[in-house]
Amino acid sequence: MPETTPGNTPAPSTGNDSVSIESVLIENRVFEPPADFGHRVGGAYIDSLDAYHSLHRRSIDDPESFWAEIARELDWFEPWTPGSVVEWNLPDAKWFVGAKTNLSHNCLDRQIANGHGDDLAILWEGEPPAPGQSEGNPEVRKLTYNDLHAETCKLANVLKDLGVSKGDVVTLYMGMVPELAIAMLACARIGAPHSVIFGGFSSQAIADRVIDAKSKLVITCDGAWRRGSVVPLKANVDEACAKTDVIENVIVLKRCDNDVTMTEGRDHWWHDLTSRASADCDCEPMDSEDMLFLLYTSGSTGKPKGIMHTTAGYMVYTYITSKYTFNLVPDRDQLYWCSADIGWVTGHSYIVYGLLPNRVPTLMYEGAPNHPEPDRFWDIIERHKVTQFYTAPTAIRAFMKWGSEHPRKHDLSSLIVLGTVGEPINPEAWMWYHEVIGGEKCPIVDTWWQTETGGQMITPLPGATPTVPGSCTLPFFGVDAAIVNDDGVEQPTNVGGLLVIRKPWPSMLRGIFGDRERFIETYFSRVKGMYLAGDSARRDERGYFWIMGRIDDVINVAGHRLGTMEVESALVSHESVVEAAVVGMPHEIKGTGIAAFCTLDPGHNPDGPEATEELKKALRAHVAKEIGAIAKPDMIRFTDALPKTRSGKIMRRLLRAIASGDTSTNQDTTTLEDFSVLAKLRESEEG
Ligand code: WT7
Repeated sequence: MPETTPGNTPAPSTGNDSVSIESVLIENRVFEPPADFGHRVGGAYIDSLDAYHSLHRRSIDDPESFWAEIARELDWFEPWTPGSVVEWNLPDAKWFVGAKTNLSHNCLDRQIANGHGDDLAILWEGEPPAPGQSEGNPEVRKLTYNDLHAETCKLANVLKDLGVSKGDVVTLYMGMVPELAIAMLACARIGAPHSVIFGGFSSQAIADRVIDAKSKLVITCDGAWRRGSVVPLKANVDEACAKTDVIENVIVLKRCDNDVTMTEGRDHWWHDLTSRASADCDCEPMDSEDMLFLLYTSGSTGKPKGIMHTTAGYMVYTYITSKYTFNLVPDRDQLYWCSADIGWVTGHSYIVYGLLPNRVPTLMYEGAPNHPEPDRFWDIIERHKVTQFYTAPTAIRAFMKWGSEHPRKHDLSSLIVLGTVGEPINPEAWMWYHEVIGGEKCPIVDTWWQTETGGQMITPLPGATPTVPGSCTLPFFGVDAAIVNDDGVEQPTNVGGLLVIRKPWPSMLRGIFGDRERFIETYFSRVKGMYLAGDSARRDERGYFWIMGRIDDVINVAGHRLGTMEVESALVSHESVVEAAVVGMPHEIKGTGIAAFCTLDPGHNPDGPEATEELKKALRAHVAKEIGAIAKPDMIRFTDALPKTRSGKIMRRLLRAIASGDTSTNQDTTTLEDFSVLAKLRESEEG
C-alpha cells in the first residue's frame, strides 16, 4: 500500500501569518467509492466523477436553470420571478427573488400533505437511563412529522400570544432536546428569526448576544444533562437577565427537574403555556429574503458577530447538500445521525433544516460521547442501526485515544456513509475512521464549510468522488471555489493562497446583524469582487482542495471557532492581568489548543509556584465565566513583557513558535523591539 511521507502531516490551523506552505502533504492513498455503494444506499444520486463534473459545470454556467430545478422539489406559496433565481449585486446576493415559502412548512406540512405524517422524523436519545431503568436503557423518544407539527404549532401560538411577531429575534439557550428543534421550527413558522446560543456559553455571552439582537424572549431549559451532571441553563439565563433589561419573557422547559427560581411575570413553564395552546398555526408566508436565523460566531476582532441567513436560498441549499452529500434516500430504512450540537451551524443545517425536508429520520443525542462509557456512540449506532454518521475530527481523535476496543465491541455494519466537519482531519484520524468505524466500506465525506456559508461548500460526493485522506476534495454544485493571491489571481497547483468563492451561492450569509461595514470589511475587501473565507488552502494535481489554516486571528479549537481577541479581552478583564496575547498551539485531541501569555499587575504578582498555579486556575475559571468552558486556555504563561514590533504590535508568530515548543532561534526577529523579552519567554519554558 502506498504510504505517506513521514513528517508530512498538515499543520493544524494555528492561524498562519503567511499563506505559504511549510510542508506539503504527499498523500498517495486514494479511495474509490466502494463498488457496492449504490446498492447499499438505495441508489447513488451522483455515481461517477464524470457525472459530478458535468453537473458542476452546468451549475456554474447556468445557475438559473440548475437551481430552479432543485427548488421545484420543495413547496412554494408563490413562485419566484422568472429570470430572478439569483441577483448578484456585490456583496449582496438575492435568491429566488419574489417567491414566498416557509421552511417550517417544507419540514413538516409538506411531508404530512404527502401522506407521511406518521413517518419517523426525529429519533431522540437522552443521556441518562430512562426513569426507573438501569444503565443501557436510555430514554428514547420517537417523534413523527405529525407529532412535530402539533408541538411546533402549539409553541408558535404561545410565541404569538407573548407578543412575538415577524422579524422579532427569539433566543434559544437549550440542551440537545427535541424541543430545541421544535422551538426553531416554531420561530421559522411565524417568521421570527431565532438566535441559538450553545448551552456551553456563559451568562455574559448570553447577555452580549441578546443585547446585540435586541431579543426580548428567551427559551431555555431548567438544565441540560452532561456527563451525568446538570448544566444549570436557567440559572445562567437569570444571570444574563441581571446584566440586561432587554429580556421580557423567558420560557422554561422542564428537563432535569433541578431547582430553578421562576420570576413572576417574566418566567413561564413551557408545559403550562403549551398545554393551553392550539395545535394549529398557519405558516407565515415568508419572502425568500426574509431573515430565517441569526447565529453568532467569532471573528478576528472584538465581540462575536451575528451571521444572518435568509429563508429560501438557505432552505434549498441545505436540502440539496444533505441529500447529495449523505445520499439520503427516503423509505429505505435510513437513519442519519449528526453528533454536533444544534448550538453550532452544523446542527442547524445538518440535524434540523437540511434533514426534515429530505424525509430521512434524524437522530438527536442529548449527551456526552463517553457517558456512561467510552463506547456510547457505537452503542447508539448499533442499537438504532444508524446509516449515515457525521462528526468532527476532534471527536475522532478522542475515540482513537480511548481505544479501538470500544467500537470493536459493537456491530457497526449498518453504516454506509461517514462524514467529518469543523477542522482539517489528519490522515491518521481519517484512516482510523475509515478502518475501525467504517470497516473499510464507507466513503468518508470531509466537508469544508463555515457558519457564513450556511451549508457544505467543498466535499466529496460519496458515490462519485475518490477520496484522499486529509482533503475535502471538490466544490459542491454551484460553488465556484478558488485559491488566489491578494490580487485575485488563481494560484498554480500546490501553491498555497487564499480560499475564495467567486460567485454567490444560495445559502451565503446576507450580512452581519447591525454591522454592514464589518460585513464588507471581513469578507469582501482584501480580494476584490469575491467572498474571502478566511482560510488558506491549496489545490493539488487533481484539483482537490487542502485546507491549511486560518489567515486571521481566529483559532479553531476542537472544531469550535474562537477569536484570540475575545479570549484576550476576557483575560484582561481579570484584576491581575494587564496585557494578554493568545495564540493557537498544537493539541493532540483538540487540534488547536489555546496558549495565553499574560503580563501581570505588579500588585497581583503571585508569590511562589503554588500561588502561580492558583492564579492560573483562577484565570481559567474567569475565562470560562466570561465566554464559556470551550475558551479556557490550555496553557498560561506569565511574562514581564510581550514581544512587540517597534510599532507596538504583538509578535504572535513568535508566541506561536514558543507555544508549539519550537525553540529554534531561526525565527525572523528583525522587528522585535526588545530581544530580552523573547529570551526570557524561552527561559520560562524550562521553568
Ligand atoms: C472554519 C469554520 C462548518 C461547521 C463547523 C465549523 C474550519 C470547517 C473544515 C474541514 C478543514 C474546516 C475552517 C473554516 N473548517 N470544516 N472539513 N476541513 N477546515 O464552522 O465555526 O464557522 O468554522 O472551520 O477553518 O473556516 P465555523
